[in-house]
Amino acid sequence: MDKYKPAVKKYLYCFILGPFFMVLEACGEFILPYLNANIINKGAATGDVEYILENGAYMLLMAAFMLLAGVLGAHFAIKGSANLAKDVRRQTFVKVQEYSFANIDKFSTGSLITRITNDITQIQSFTQTLLRGVFRSPVMLIGAVCMSFALNRRLAMVICIVVPVLAACIALIIKIASPRYTVMQQKIDALNNNINETITNERVIKSFVREDYEKEKFASVNDNLMEKSVKALKMMILLQPVSALAINVTTLCVVWIAGKQIMVGSMEIGTLTAFITYLSQVLTALNFLANIFLQGTRAAASDRRISEVLKEKVDINDDNAKSKDAVVTRGDIEFKNVSFRYFKNTAQNILKDISFKINGGEYICILGSTGSGKTTLISLISRLYDVDEGAVLVDGVDVRDMSLIHLREKVSVVLQKNTLFSGTIAENLRWGNENASDEELKKACKIAQASEFVDSFKDGYETELEQGGANLSGGQRQRLCIARALVKQPKILILDDSTSAVDTATDARIRKAFREELKGMTKIVITQRISSCFDADKIIVLDEGRIAGIGNHETLIKSCVPYQEIYYSQKDGKEKSHSQISLCPVANA
Ligand SMILES: Nc1ncnc2c1ncn2[C@@H]1O[C@H](COP(=O)(O)OP(=O)(O)OP(=O)(O)O)[C@@H](O)[C@H]1O
Ligand SMILES: [Mg+2]
Repeated sequence: MDKYKPAVKKYLYCFILGPFFMVLEACGEFILPYLNANIINKGAATGDVEYILENGAYMLLMAAFMLLAGVLGAHFAIKGSANLAKDVRRQTFVKVQEYSFANIDKFSTGSLITRITNDITQIQSFTQTLLRGVFRSPVMLIGAVCMSFALNRRLAMVICIVVPVLAACIALIIKIASPRYTVMQQKIDALNNNINETITNERVIKSFVREDYEKEKFASVNDNLMEKSVKALKMMILLQPVSALAINVTTLCVVWIAGKQIMVGSMEIGTLTAFITYLSQVLTALNFLANIFLQGTRAAASDRRISEVLKEKVDINDDNAKSKDAVVTRGDIEFKNVSFRYFKNTAQNILKDISFKINGGEYICILGSTGSGKTTLISLISRLYDVDEGAVLVDGVDVRDMSLIHLREKVSVVLQKNTLFSGTIAENLRWGNENASDEELKKACKIAQASEFVDSFKDGYETELEQGGANLSGGQRQRLCIARALVKQPKILILDDSTSAVDTATDARIRKAFREELKGMTKIVITQRISSCFDADKIIVLDEGRIAGIGNHETLIKSCVPYQEIYYSQKDGKEKSHSQISLCPVANA
C-alpha cells in the first residue's frame, strides 16, 4: 500500500471532497421522493396549485444542488484516481529503469508493459468507483431504509426482508464471478504478451512467412480470452435480472399491502410512490456496492502484479561500493578466475574460471563459436550482470566497488541487439553525451564510417529516424550505433558483433580508424570474422565458456585448435581436419 501513499497525501483533498460531494448528492436523493409525495398527497389531492408550485420549486432547487454535488464529486474522484495512477505509473517506470538485465529477464517485456499500462488503469478505474460509491452507497442504503420507516413501518418491513435476501444473492454471484475475473485477467495478460511479441517482431514474422501461424496463435489466445470473459461476465450480467426480479416482486408486495391501506384510508398514494422510489434506491445502492467489490477483486490482482515489479530486488547497485570515487582513467581490464551462470539455482556455469589481463589502449578481439559466452563475458565489464565467482577489475578496482555511473560513463558497449530511437540522427548520437558539439558528432561518424551516408541524406544529421532506426539499412544502423558509443568518449569501447552487417572493406576502414584515432582507448571487439582479428594486440578465443587461447594471430595459428578451426573454415571455406591441426596449450595472458 506504500505505493499509493504519496499520491493520497498530495491529493488528499480529492480523496475527501470526492466522497463528500457524492454523499451530499445521495442526501438529495432522499429528499426528492419526500417532496414528490407531498405534492401528490397534499397538493394534487386538494388541488392546491400554490403548494404544488412551491414544492416543485424546492424539487427543482434540490435537483440543481444534486447536479452540482454530483459533478463536483465526479470531478474530485476522477482527479484523485487519475493522479494516483499517474504517480504509481511513474514509480513503476522509474523502478524498471533501475532494473539490471537479470531483473528484466525475470519479467517478460510484454508483462512489464501490461503492468505499467493495463494494471494501473485497472487500479485507476477502481479508485474512481470507490471514491464515488464507498460512502454514497451505504449512506443511500441506510438513508432509504430510514426514510421508508419514517413513511410507513409496515411497508418498511418488506424492505427489511428483501435487502438481506438480495444481498445474499449478490454475494453468491460475486463469490462465483470473482475467481472467473482473475482467470479473465490472466487471459488478458496472455493476449497482451502475444500482441507485444508479434507486433515488435513483425518484420521477422514477415520474412519467415509466419503470418498464418501467428494468426492462428493469436486466434487461440483471443478465443481463450473471449471464453473466459463470457464466463465471468455472464455471472455479472445475472446481477441485473436478479435485481429486477427483486424490485418487481417487492413492488408487487408493497402495492398489495399499500393498496389495502390506501383503500381503508390509512395511507396516501404519494407515500406509495415515494416508497417505491426508496425501494429502487436501496437496490441501486446494493448493485453499486457489488460493483465496487467486483472491480476490487480485479484491482487486487493488478495491485499484486504492480507490487511484484516495485518490490523486485534490484540485484545490481552500488550501495555498498567501497571506491565510489574511483574513475576509469587508463582502461585496464582484468578478469580473475571469473565464473558466471544466468540461473543461480543450477550448478552449470556459462563462464568457467576465466582469467586474463588487458592493458589500457589495447585492441582486443574475442572469437568463439556461437553460444560460447562472448556476449556474457563482455556484459560483466560494465556490470550488466555480476560475477558469481572471482572478480572483474577495471583500472585495478573491482567493478562492484565502483560507482555504477562512473563505470558506465567510461565503458561504452555497443550491444549485439542494439537499437536506435525515433528522433533525429543527431539526437540519437547525443545519447551518450548530450553536450557533444556538432564537430564531435561528425568526428565520431567519421571513425565509424557513417559520415558518408549521413551526409548523403537531404537533412544530414537532422534526418528523422523511425522507431528502432527502421528507415536505415542494417549496416548503417550498426555504424550509427558505433558512432553513438564513440560520442560518449569512453576509455573502454566494446563492440559485440557490431559490424556483422557491414561489408569487409568498410569493416577494415573502421578498424584502421580505431587504430589511428583511438589510441588511448581500450577496444574490445567481438567478431565472427577472423580477418578482423589479424591486427589485434590480443585475441581471446572462447570455447564453451572457457578460454581456449589468448595471444596474437601468429601464436594462436600455431598453437590453438579452436582458432585454427575458425581460421581454416573461413580461409578455405571448409574446416581443416583435426589431424592437420596441432594441439595447443592455452597461452597465458
Ligand atoms: N539472458 C540470458 N538468460 C539465460 N541464458 C542466457 C542468456 N543470455 C545467454 N544465455 C546463455 O548463455 C550462453 C552463452 O551465451 P552468449 O550470448 O554469451 O553467447 P555468444 O558467444 O555471445 O553467442 P553468439 O555468437 O551467438 O552471440 C548460451 O548458452 C545462452 O543460451
Ligand atoms: Mg553474443
